[in-house]
Amino acid sequence: MIRLKDLTKNYAIGENEIPALLDINLHIHKNEYVSIMGPSGSGKSTLMNILGCLDTPSSGHYYFKQVDVNTLNDDELSAMRNKEIGFIFQNFNLLPRLNSLQNVELPLIYSGTLAAERKERALLALERVGLSGRLDHKPGELSGGQRQRVAIARALVTNPGILLADEPTGALDSKTGEDIMRLFQDLHDEGNTIILITHEPEIADYAQRNIFIKDGMIHSDKINEK
Ligand SMILES: Nc1ncnc2c1ncn2[C@@H]1O[C@H](COP(=O)(O)OP(=O)(O)OP(=O)(O)O)[C@@H](O)[C@H]1O
Ligand SMILES: [Mg+2]
Repeated sequence: MIRLKDLTKNYAIGENEIPALLDINLHIHKNEYVSIMGPSGSGKSTLMNILGCLDTPSSGHYYFKQVDVNTLNDDELSAMRNKEIGFIFQNFNLLPRLNSLQNVELPLIYSGTLAAERKERALLALERVGLSGRLDHKPGELSGGQRQRVAIARALVTNPGILLADEPTGALDSKTGEDIMRLFQDLHDEGNTIILITHEPEIADYAQRNIFIKDGMIHSDKINEK
């Protein structure tokens, strides 16, 4: 599903090039549940941005479902992002003026899905995360855990190839965080491919495979023997 080959990412700061990722080689298969951990500044967000097609590598290749992402133009890249990547962020990134149903419908509006089908699919996604009773609520009228459920429904609604979650429990208390991690567990059991970025070992422990990055390199990559 995902293959990174000799991938590097440098950021230009004035005359200097700062390496953020160095020679990354990585395969992630369909239905894997992978955590990515590492210290601050190790390159986690840089990697997430590349995996999510929000940024492109400086050299090397990113193949998503066999397609070399370098060969896509901006429109193709946005279309791929919209269809194939479900993003889940620490701070939910919901639109405050829209209710739950409208927030979840958004990716389908961008992809040009007709209104009736949009609504039907958004309702199903909200049902999947246990929020059928909160369709008309705006983000400000929901608890943190409920907001994250809306964000997860929004990520699921396009039926993406991968779910990319960056510190999804970072803004939640530990009990609510556990509920969200159980939901991820169920989504993985249903066949979803999940990549989870976290700095908390307890959260990484939910994943099947744990990757640790340090100084822009893969330091370890282990199956979680739990
Ligand atoms: N837009 C940018 N311009 C220049 N340098 C950047 C940029 N973004 C990140 N960097 C540098 O790249 C390196 C990796 O940063 P990155 O944000 O990927 O780390 P991170 O692992 O996500 O850290 P954190 O846990 O603090 O979020 C850092 O040295 C950082 O200073
Ligand atoms: Mg980061």
